[in-house]
Amino acid sequence: MPVITCIEDLKRLHRRRAPRMFYDYAESGSWTEKTFRENTSDFEDIYLRQRVAVDMSGRSTKTQMIGEDVAMPVALAPVGLTGMQHADGEIKAARAAEKFGVPFTLSTMSINSIEEVAEATTKPFWFQLYTMTDEDFVSRLIQRAKDAKCSALVITLDLQILGQRHKDLKNGLSAPPKLTPSTIANLMTKWRWGIGMLGAKRRNFGNIVGHVKGVTDTADLGAWTAQSFDPSLDWDKIAKIKEQWGGKVILKGILDADDARMALKVGADAIIVSNHGGRQLDGAQSSIRALPSILEAVGDQVEVHLDSGIRSGQDVLKAVAMGASGTYIGRAFVYGLGAMGEAGVTKALEVIHKELDVSMALCGKRTLSEVDRDILMIPENFEGRWQS
Ligand SMILES: Cc1cc2nc3c(=O)[nH]c(=O)nc-3n(C[C@H](O)[C@H](O)[C@H](O)COP(=O)(O)O)c2cc1C
Repeated sequence: MPVITCIEDLKRLHRRRAPRMFYDYAESGSWTEKTFRENTSDFEDIYLRQRVAVDMSGRSTKTQMIGEDVAMPVALAPVGLTGMQHADGEIKAARAAEKFGVPFTLSTMSINSIEEVAEATTKPFWFQLYTMTDEDFVSRLIQRAKDAKCSALVITLDLQILGQRHKDLKNGLSAPPKLTPSTIANLMTKWRWGIGMLGAKRRNFGNIVGHVKGVTDTADLGAWTAQSFDPSLDWDKIAKIKEQWGGKVILKGILDADDARMALKVGADAIIVSNHGGRQLDGAQSSIRALPSILEAVGDQVEVHLDSGIRSGQDVLKAVAMGASGTYIGRAFVYGLGAMGEAGVTKALEVIHKELDVSMALCGKRTLSEVDRDILMIPENFEGRWQS
């Protein structure tokens, strides 16, 4: 058993153990990957202010996200095809999150279905919705999430149209993998993954296959997804979905202060400052750089969360100190899952929790409610001044 001390260790194991097309799917940004890279490098540009001789006893990282108690302000982000990184990946990640006491968000494009994850867990999880042109399907999906007692609907706004990731096209990404000479050669080196997959509950898109007329297998699904995301999604449609859902709504993919104001207008319970992990608009700002202007616009009226680029507890601390009341990890938990299944997701959460707790203490703080911008040293030009 290797000694895992950081998220990078899990990433190395993930790379070794998962088929190349799925590792590449996770470890990619769109086009030149500038935004993908800056999501992490911009965190590195911020320093933490070390303080000493402060009583560090009785610390806690507990807080709340949308009124739910969380062991730390870190939720698992919705990630499509998680069940291809490891057999029954969504079930395993959801279980790890539940045991740790942080929210799990199930993607519309998951392998395990809403019902399968609900059956395997005891606490409500969050469901992420992609809006599709087939309104009847979307209505039924929302109803299925309600029936499964999901406690929040996360509506993703930054993927009406897909940003291109070169590796996915070159690898012929599909779920399950199409058997070509090169995928067969690669799969032969991934015996651990293959044995797990033989026993998996599911190897196709559980929320979709069998729920959309005419889609009974993944061959049809490829054609279906290409035409199915709704390019006409607008604020009126978001308001209607919110009404239909009737519960807590989190709007994901906000990177602009004007959009944050619109999100507030439609009554979001929280927004996620996100660029989809650098997978959509290449050349967009990193989330951490966009955060201050959004907080300035709406921070006192709606909960502001952040994702994209978080690889450590120090990153979580920086986002919270800037003013985010919650964060999400995408790749950081996927590396853990691809490396070691449920134990790997637990390990990713433990690593981040320890880093958060110790770093908070070394900044002279015992609780997250004491943490503010005072503990940060932010470069003078960090937020940027842009010509309008
Ligand atoms: C492999 C992968 C698949 C993703 N699939 C979805 C998805 O189905 N729905 C969604 O809203 N976001 C999706 N995202 C974006 C994540 O929810 C999140 O915004 C992003 O991973 C955060 O960046 P990070 O990976 O640097 O933490 C995906 C991200 C990755 C890496």
